[in-house]
Amino acid sequence: MDFGRLIRSELDALTPYTPGLRASEVKEKTGTERIVKLSSNEFPAGPVPEAVRAIEAMALHSNRYPDGSARALRGRIARWLDVPRDNVVVGAGSNELIRLIAQAVLQPGDECVFAWPSFVVYPIVTQMFGATAVRIPLTADDTHDLEAMADAITERTRLVFLCNPNNPTGTIYHRIAFERFLGRLPEHVLLVVDEAYFEFVADEHYPDALRYFDSTPALCVMRTFSKIYSLASLRIGYGIVPEPIRHAIERLREPFNTCALAQAAAYYSIPEHEEIERRRAENIESRERMCEAFDQIGLEYAASHANFVYVKTDEPQRLFEALLAEGVIVRDFGESPALRVTVGDPEETAFAITAFERAYARLYG
Ligand SMILES: Cc1ncc(COP(=O)(O)O)c(C=O)c1O
Repeated sequence: MDFGRLIRSELDALTPYTPGLRASEVKEKTGTERIVKLSSNEFPAGPVPEAVRAIEAMALHSNRYPDGSARALRGRIARWLDVPRDNVVVGAGSNELIRLIAQAVLQPGDECVFAWPSFVVYPIVTQMFGATAVRIPLTADDTHDLEAMADAITERTRLVFLCNPNNPTGTIYHRIAFERFLGRLPEHVLLVVDEAYFEFVADEHYPDALRYFDSTPALCVMRTFSKIYSLASLRIGYGIVPEPIRHAIERLREPFNTCALAQAAAYYSIPEHEEIERRRAENIESRERMCEAFDQIGLEYAASHANFVYVKTDEPQRLFEALLAEGVIVRDFGESPALRVTVGDPEETAFAITAFERAYARLYG
């Protein structure tokens, strides 16, 4: 069999998503006793107790297929956010929804505009459906250049991704800039605002994209239960989308794309306002401690509003290896002069700070 002829040639240009290293891999490779994984922007605590109980209860019914349309969870999200259920979609992580939306709108010859660096999945899904990625560099202070992004929109543009806070920099764009951008958005373009880190933000200038949903005909707002709700492994995210986009997603998705355990866990995670508030505050405190340590060491970093920090370095690979030797896994993107470090719990943060101090002293001291 000539697999080279069999497999679509467009796939040659695709680079597979590379996840951060796993703690078990690193333990095996380095023999280091204590490994702290700060490479995937996960929340350090487990799911809320109500979610764990729901998972346990649903596990007994794993012989049954789940409700493919996730009616109960979609209804719960709709009531929670005060939007019609017909505008709510759920997917195997917001990642799946991002791919399905791209699949629904992008064709060869189309353009998809997004900032760069930003979430690595945007160029992957763009290429996957034969469209052209238009990457707009971040500004000098690592934020979306919304003016330049609006300038880059052409007749061929079908899709724009905005990531707020932006992964990997953690930076946000402000309400005024967003409103100006919305005013320049032509009718033929679908705007997807990816708010995977929405719950971590405590800045008065941050625009909650959902508030613009009613007044913006072609807006999708993507969120997830993977981050502050600690359900990353269950793969469950959601979006608030125009009804025609929901219909398109319904046609394209797998019949049972989200499992019953994930739906139940997400359902019972929603009322946890106090706990989410506590998690947000804990993240901010640890992030500030980490940034103070970077100031002391003399490392520059982007102004993060999320649960990770983008640390500037001319030698990311060397610093990455030196941190690994200290038992800390961070994220190296290969192409950026920076590393991304997830904010851990207070104890992990202290461990990471010591690792940075030692690694930096060993390399440059
Ligand atoms: C910006 C952004 N969007 C979407 C996702 C996808 O998250 P999930 O598929 O787990 O919901 C991630 C995950 O890291 C992310 O960083």
